[in-house]
This record gives sequence, structure tokens and C-alpha cells, in this order.
Amino acid sequence: MEITIRPFKISDIDDFMVYGCDERVARLTRWNAFNSKEEALTFLKDFCIPQPFFRSICIDDHSIGYVFVMRGSTEYEKYKAVLGYAVAAEYWGKGIATTAAKMTVRQAFKEFPDLVRLEAFTAVENEASQKVLEKLGFTKEGVLRKYVYIKGANVDSTIFSLLSTDPMP
Ligand SMILES: CC(C)(COP(=O)(O)OP(=O)(O)OC[C@H]1O[C@@H](n2cnc3c(N)ncnc32)[C@H](O)[C@@H]1OP(=O)(O)O)[C@@H](O)C(=O)NCCC(=O)NCCS
Repeated sequence: MEITIRPFKISDIDDFMVYGCDERVARLTRWNAFNSKEEALTFLKDFCIPQPFFRSICIDDHSIGYVFVMRGSTEYEKYKAVLGYAVAAEYWGKGIATTAAKMTVRQAFKEFPDLVRLEAFTAVENEASQKVLEKLGFTKEGVLRKYVYIKGANVDSTIFSLLSTDPMP
């Protein structure tokens, strides 16, 4: 099983819907599961594809998840970026997020040479996501109280970081 990451294409829409419309995948993220192909397509076309670093996690070139690195938008915030990811539920627990996030981290620090700090936030109860970050060598810096709004409530969020000077995963 070869795991790759590559930019999204419009033709990924049917694969994207498998996880993009799945409440289990969206449960601990800020986005809501899509209700229609039209909604999912708009998100793919107008948000994911134009982003400088929003990649499809693929098996045999079929999209089974996403991973992104979003940099700060102002000149003063470009030194940091947020890492995020999700994998289709049928593939959980196989090491796919860890592998894809590892590739992403290496690529992001190469592609953005002025990037100093990569950070990641997870709902406190999202133990699988925290495990991924730990396996990548991110440092847990703490818990931000009521930091993130998920599905109608503000919940505590962990904050993790990896610096460009830390050992690369
Ligand atoms: C978080 C997510 C991306 C992990 O993907 P994955 O491919 O299953 O991750 P991996 O298999 O690489 O690693 C997951 C690790 O968490 C562990 N894990 C899984 N579920 C767990 C749970 N409920 N409690 C504790 N650990 C758990 C796994 O055992 C594994 O650790 P191990 O390799 O030491 O056994 C996936 O669960 C997902 O897409 N969730 C929904 C979207 C999401 O929450 N994204 C992150 C937002 S911050």
C-alpha cells in the first residue's frame, strides 16, 4: 500500500465525499460534514485547490484523506503555520495519518524556507490526533481553555509545535 500526498483535483470529488460527508470524520474538527455533492465540490474547488499547501492523502492515487499546512497571512505571521489532517474512517489505525503528516512536515519546511514554527491544535478528547503529533516529534505546549468552537460548543484544545530546528520526523 503506497501512501502519497499530492494536490487535489476536481476529479477527486467522489473520493473526497466518502470522508467529507462522514460525521465520524468531522466530529472533532471545526468543519461540518457536507450534505451534498454541490457543497463538497464548492469547498474543494474554492477552498482546497487554491490553497498553497492543501494536499490529498492517496492510496494508488485515490484520495482517502487530506493534510494541510496553512501559513499566517500577514508578513509578521509568515514564520508560523498550522498543520491539519483527516483520514477516511475505514483507514483509521493503519499509520496513514502519521506517514502522510511526516511527508507533509518535511515538504513544508523545504517549500517555505522562512517557516520557523509548525503548530497543531486538537480537541482534548482527540487522542488519536495527539498520538500522531507525538509520533512526529511535536512538543505538547499545553491546553488552551475553550479555544476552539466545535459543533456548537467551545472546547479545550491542546497546542503542539515543531520548530525548524527540531529533529525532522
Ligand atoms: C486523527 C486521525 C487523522 C488519525 O489517523 P490514523 O491514520 O488513524 O492515524 P495513525 O494510524 O497514523 O495513528 C493513530 C494513533 O492513535 C491511536 N489511536 C487511535 N484511536 C485512539 C483513541 N481513541 N485513543 C487513543 N489512541 C488512539 C492509534 O493506536 C495510533 O497509535 P499507535 O500507532 O501508537 O498505535 C483520524 O483518526 C481522523 O481522521 N480523525 C478525524 C479527523 C480528525 O480528528 N483530524 C484531526 C483534527 S485535529
